[in-house]
Amino acid sequence: MKASIGGQLAVLLLCCLVSICSLMPLTKEREELISKEEFLQTGGNVVLTGREKKVNEMLVNIKEKERIDAMKNGQFPPSMHFFKAKNLIEQSIIFNVLKKMPKGAALHLHDFGMLSVDWLVKNATYRPNCYICFASMSTVRFIFSDPAPIAPLPPNCSEWILLATYRKQLSNVSMFDNSLLQNLTLVTNSPETTYPDQNVIWKRFENCFITASDLISYAPVFKDYYYQSLQELYEDNIQYIEMRAMLYPIYELDGKMHNKSWSMAVYRDVTKKFVEEHPDFLGAKVIFTAHRFEDLDKVKENIQTAMDLKKEFPDTLAGFDLVGQEDRGHSLWYFKDVLTIPSSQGVSLPYFFHAGETNWGGTEVDENVLDALLLNTSRIGHGFALVKHPLARKLARKMNVPLEICPISNQVLMMVSDLRNHPASVLMADGHPIVISSDDPSIFGAKGISYDFYEVFMGIGGMKTDLKTLKELILNSIRYSALSPEMKTKATEIWMKKWSNFLGDFESAFPVEKV
Ligand SMILES: *[C@@H]1O[C@H](CO)[C@@H](O)[C@H](O)[C@H]1NC(C)=O
Ligand SMILES: *[C@@H]1O[C@H](CO)[C@@H](O)[C@H](O)[C@H]1NC(C)=O
Ligand SMILES: *[C@@H]1O[C@H](CO)[C@@H](O)[C@H](O)[C@H]1NC(C)=O
Ligand SMILES: *[C@@H]1O[C@H](CO)[C@@H](O)[C@H](O)[C@H]1NC(C)=O
Ligand SMILES: *[C@@H]1O[C@H](CO)[C@@H](O)[C@H](O)[C@H]1NC(C)=O
Ligand SMILES: *[C@@H]1O[C@H](CO)[C@@H](O)[C@H](O)[C@H]1NC(C)=O
Ligand SMILES: [Zn+2]
Repeated sequence: MKASIGGQLAVLLLCCLVSICSLMPLTKEREELISKEEFLQTGGNVVLTGREKKVNEMLVNIKEKERIDAMKNGQFPPSMHFFKAKNLIEQSIIFNVLKKMPKGAALHLHDFGMLSVDWLVKNATYRPNCYICFASMSTVRFIFSDPAPIAPLPPNCSEWILLATYRKQLSNVSMFDNSLLQNLTLVTNSPETTYPDQNVIWKRFENCFITASDLISYAPVFKDYYYQSLQELYEDNIQYIEMRAMLYPIYELDGKMHNKSWSMAVYRDVTKKFVEEHPDFLGAKVIFTAHRFEDLDKVKENIQTAMDLKKEFPDTLAGFDLVGQEDRGHSLWYFKDVLTIPSSQGVSLPYFFHAGETNWGGTEVDENVLDALLLNTSRIGHGFALVKHPLARKLARKMNVPLEICPISNQVLMMVSDLRNHPASVLMADGHPIVISSDDPSIFGAKGISYDFYEVFMGIGGMKTDLKTLKELILNSIRYSALSPEMKTKATEIWMKKWSNFLGDFESAFPVEKV
């Protein structure tokens, strides 16, 4: 018996030795590879405090639980269309944590797409002297006017009808108001059939903008819309914004028009008022934009305007950009001779180019990411195509030029359907500098940037992204903003206080179970 037990022990010992000798090196190598990769990802080298580590553990557990639940019921929001995922996202604990998290800066927003459209319908269209006309393709146009509008009607429009009078003869006003909401967003229950291709959805997208700008371009609405936008972004726990703005002419009731300096002054003054009332908000800067469908002469004029505005509003104007459907517009290279005017005159006009918002690899438009870098862009808007350009990617990193990732915009505008496959997943795995924003949340039926943070945290970044990743993304938004070094320091200080409160709220909402 004794010998037998001894023999068994010897066999056991031998097995252990064999496995230690032959398997341990592989295990060790594997662990090393994994931890090296984890170190590379966005936030991989962020060092958490003891307190943050505990919060992180809990956060990662909640995240994993939500993933397992999603696998069970076959509904994982980041892999679904946002219009269908939105309700599910709102039920997610992770989403509600992200909503409360102080998110730093939102650096890619467009001025007429920042505020939920409800306000436009419920407040703007209920103001006196608002006229409506019904145009082709189920669209409507608006104008505020007193006396009754005499301006030529928009193409294919009915007569101008006073909205107050029109509403009085309706049997169901809320049904009508709902139809107005639908004119201002792309939201639908059946995105796949409503929008068969990108050209259709871009056409509708631009129609939403045209209808919204009829309302927003009325001077009193313009001021209130902007103030309300700041309020909504502030409530989403954003501390600072940079917004692209076309600076359309703003009109008064009698038809008088204001120029771009006037709009800039409103942005500066309303921001100042908002900051006075909310000292934990840092403000806003404007990136003046031209449409990429314009010709060389028009963009040349816009570049001159941008330089003038930079002189007139040095603290409010951050720089210049070109917008519109990239695939159908002119490439950056087409504009090279006018885009080099500021540098040839020794004038500093920072660029924040939208570039690479395309799936057409190898075309001239696809080279926009490279050209944006050649033209010294400070950041790249979207940069969806960057992963296909290894040299541009290296150059961007060397130049410290981040991408502004707007996941929901990319999905709704049909660049990618399952956000786990968004190209930024590759960039995040490699720690390429990125910031998260929401482009035109109002038109996509979103709000602030929390929905986009959710898509990044749960979908694009994969299961290994954690509190370190979030911290890095937030600090990136301050680091890569156009704020002065002093303001960056102030922004970081304000953010750190908020972050500490956020950790405290998290700890009380999710107390660690006593073992
Ligand atoms: C719209 O909002 C403004 C404040 O932004 C308020 O003063 C005004 O009374 C509101 N108008 C309507 C019609 O709701
Ligand atoms: C106006 O309507 C006509 C006929 O329906 C159409 O061919 C044309 O493209 C429309 N014009 C605009 C600017 O919508
Ligand atoms: C009016 O329309 C709304 C939304 O379309 C609907 O919920 C409501 O029941 C309607 N009211 C009446 C009185 O028909
Ligand atoms: C826009 O509003 C009009 C007026 O109520 C409506 O007939 C039309 O269907 C709406 N368009 C969309 C795209 O919902
Ligand atoms: C706008 O008009 C004012 C005078 O009312 C002028 O000083 C300013 O330069 C103009 N700005 C632009 C951008 O044209
Ligand atoms: C970009 O920066 C480089 C180096 O500072 C400079 O030589 C070049 O002229 C700039 N180009 C443009 C288009 O601003
Ligand atoms: Zn954009």
